[in-house]
Amino acid sequence: MPRPAIELFQKTFGTTPGAAASAPGRVNLIGEHTDYNGGPVLPIAIAARTNAAIGPGAPGESGVLEAVSTRYPIVSRVKWQEELPSGWVAYVAGVLRELWSFEAVPFDGSVRVAITSDVPIGAGLSSSAALSVAVAKALAPNLSARQVAGVAFRAEHDHVGVRCGVMDQTISALGKPDHALLFECASLAATQIPFGARLLLVDTGKRHDLSRGGLNERRAECEAAVKRLKIELPELQWLASWPAEWLPRLKRALREPLRSRAVHVVSETARTRFAAQLLQQGKLRQFGKLLYESHESCRRLYECSSPELDTVVSAAKRAGALGARLTGAGWGGAAIVLVNKTDQKTVPAIQRAFEGAYGRSAPISEVKASAGAHTERV
Ligand code: GLA
Repeated sequence: MPRPAIELFQKTFGTTPGAAASAPGRVNLIGEHTDYNGGPVLPIAIAARTNAAIGPGAPGESGVLEAVSTRYPIVSRVKWQEELPSGWVAYVAGVLRELWSFEAVPFDGSVRVAITSDVPIGAGLSSSAALSVAVAKALAPNLSARQVAGVAFRAEHDHVGVRCGVMDQTISALGKPDHALLFECASLAATQIPFGARLLLVDTGKRHDLSRGGLNERRAECEAAVKRLKIELPELQWLASWPAEWLPRLKRALREPLRSRAVHVVSETARTRFAAQLLQQGKLRQFGKLLYESHESCRRLYECSSPELDTVVSAAKRAGALGARLTGAGWGGAAIVLVNKTDQKTVPAIQRAFEGAYGRSAPISEVKASAGAHTERV
C-alpha cells in the first residue's frame, strides 16, 4: 500500500505529493551472475515493495532534492546536479540525473521524495532496484516498463557506480503475478512463464553490500576471461555466448580463477535455458534438480556462497525438497527452496540445521510471483 509514503510525504513536507508509485523486490529462480555476462536470468517479482511519493520542491528553489524515508527519517537536502550524495539518496539522485540526461525531469529539477519499504536491505532481494524503479516510475509515469527499467539500471550502474547487471531493475519493472520472467540479457528478449509453485525464502541474516564486495571483483574476472577468450574466438562479445560444447577448449585457454568463473557462467547459461523449458512443461522435479546444480556451481566455481547458505541448501536437500539455491549475488543474503505443496518436513529441518550450526534462527517465509512497478493513486 502506498499510503504510508504519501502520509510520510505530507507529514514531512506539509504538502500533498503530486504522484506516487511502487516497485517490488525480486528473487532469482536461476541464472546467477549471467546478466552482466549477456546470459539469461529467470527471476520473479515478490510481494515486498518500495513506495515512493514525490512532489515539487520549495518555491523559488531549483535543482534541490529533499528526500526522507521511514528507515532514515532525517531529511537529506542535496543539489543533485552538483554532488552525488552517499547512501540510499544516491539512488534517487541517480534516477534524477538519468532522467535529466533525456530532459525528463519535472518540477524545475527541485523534487521532494518520501520513501517507505518492506523490502529488507542487504538480504539479496534487490532493495536498491525496488527503490530506483519506484522513484523512476513516480517521476516519469509515462515511460514504458522497459524504459523505467533502463533508467533505474543506468541510475545504479552509471551514476551510483554499482557494477550490477540488468536483471533486478528489469524484473522490478516487468514482473507479473504468477509468472517468472525469462530474460535474455544480450538480446533483451523477454518471455513470461507461468510460475505457481511453492517457494520458500530463507533469510540467513548475513547482510552484504553490493557496492563493495565480490560483485565488482567477479565482473572484472569475467571481463579478463573474455579478453583472453577473444584470442580463441575473435567475435566473442559476451562470456555467456561461448559455446557450451567448447568447454574443454575454454578450460585449456584460461587459468584459475578465471577458468572456474567462466565455466560457471557458460554452464549456468545452458542450465537456465533448460530450466525455463522444464518450467514451461511443468516438470518441477527436474527443474528443482537444476536449482541444486546451480547452487553447487555458485559455491564451487563462482565462490559466491557462504557457510550459512550452504547449510540451508544441504538441509533442504536432506529433507527431500525439490530444489534449493542461493538467490541474488550471494556472499550472504537469502536462499530459495522449492517444495511440494504438501511438504511439512523441509521448514523444521532447515530450522533445526541452522539453529544447530549458528545458534540463531533464520526467518522462513513463502514467496509468490507478484506484480511489477505501477503508479499509485494519490
Ligand atoms: C546482483 C546484481 C544482479 C546480478 C546478481 C547476480 O543482484 O544486482 O544484476 O548480477 O547480483 O546474478
